Amino acid sequence: MFGAELPDIAALAKNAGDADREFLRLSIMAELDAINLYEQIAGLTKNEDIRKVMLDVAREEKTHMGEFQTMLLLLDGEQTEELEKGALEVEEITGRRFSPHKTGR
Ligand SMILES: [Fe+2]
Repeated sequence: MFGAELPDIAALAKNAGDADREFLRLSIMAELDAINLYEQIAGLTKNEDIRKVMLDVAREEKTHMGEFQTMLLLLDGEQTEELEKGALEVEEITGRRFSPHKTGR
């Protein structure tokens, strides 16, 4: 993330047949990086107010990630099928069922 060269989004749009899907995947990656950063900072800071703000913003980034993932799944049927297969495999292995609309914590 830090110091990494950003992708040339404009070139992607010209060259990729599936530019929108790639835009969404890149956006998901950016949100995941942000979540990790803010949660790591929250775990390290000794300032309680900073910790609270970092965790609040990390939660917002999770919403953003969900927005991008939902858009990607609307555009990529194969991704949707593989996501469902992955969820079933986890259920077989762990006995735990996942539903994005009803998460068990
Ligand atoms: Fe975000």
